[in-house]
Amino acid sequence: MRVIIQDNYDKMCKWAADYIADKIRAHKEERPFVLGLPTGSSPIGVYKELARQNQAGELSFANVVTFNMDEYLGLPHEHDQSYWYFMHDNFFDHLVDMKAENINILNGMTDDPEKECADYEARIASYGGIDLFMGGIGVDGHIAFNEPFTSLSSRTGVRNLTTDTRIVNSRFFGNDPEAVPSQALSVGVGTVFDSKEVLILINGHNKARALAAAVEGGVSQKWTCSALQQHNAAVIACDEAACGELTVDTYKYFLDIEKAERL
Ligand code: GLP
Repeated sequence: MRVIIQDNYDKMCKWAADYIADKIRAHKEERPFVLGLPTGSSPIGVYKELARQNQAGELSFANVVTFNMDEYLGLPHEHDQSYWYFMHDNFFDHLVDMKAENINILNGMTDDPEKECADYEARIASYGGIDLFMGGIGVDGHIAFNEPFTSLSSRTGVRNLTTDTRIVNSRFFGNDPEAVPSQALSVGVGTVFDSKEVLILINGHNKARALAAAVEGGVSQKWTCSALQQHNAAVIACDEAACGELTVDTYKYFLDIEKAERL
């Protein structure tokens, strides 16, 4: 596992955007580059930088297919807290050559969630899997909506959200945890970790415990992010603030081996 420590949020986002852009540009195959994407506040700076590069003609999304991680169950597209709305508002609407038919987001209004999730897995497989999955992380270490104790080999399915997550996400729902949907559709931990590469963004003091669990803890379904340790091409991009719970040795180790990435 690589851990890229950047001074602050903006530098973390710039590093992650450049990393993704380089991978897309290096993809010379005819089949599309398949990119997994998250919502949340963490990736917003990455989306801004990728859109800037796209508008400047430095990066094309014409041959990119995207799969989003998750969606609240019961929220229609036009709801301003649906992840469909978030992705269009913060990213897709700002790209000049992203094809609408290449955007895949789980449908939170489906009347057959099981089928919706099975179809999603099949669609990912039809493209030959995901090349790079970018993700964020919850304060409890959840990846997508895979709350603590979700199987580390789980596939796309319905997830019940914990009280903790509904409280944390209530900041987007008028600070009312009851207004946060209690269920979501989410790719599984196994879906994310089947990707050829995984890039996880971890920033801010409130993610420090999750970062330490992902990097230094044992692999455990209590911290679903810890499954990263078993992926052979996992990268964590983080900021200084998120490093507060790492041991000094761990922190220095990653700074040493990734020295060039900090310049
Ligand atoms: C939600 C999403 C996750 C995301 C997490 C963290 O729970 N389902 O995919 O990683 O929020 O969000 P933020 O980046 O705002 O801290």
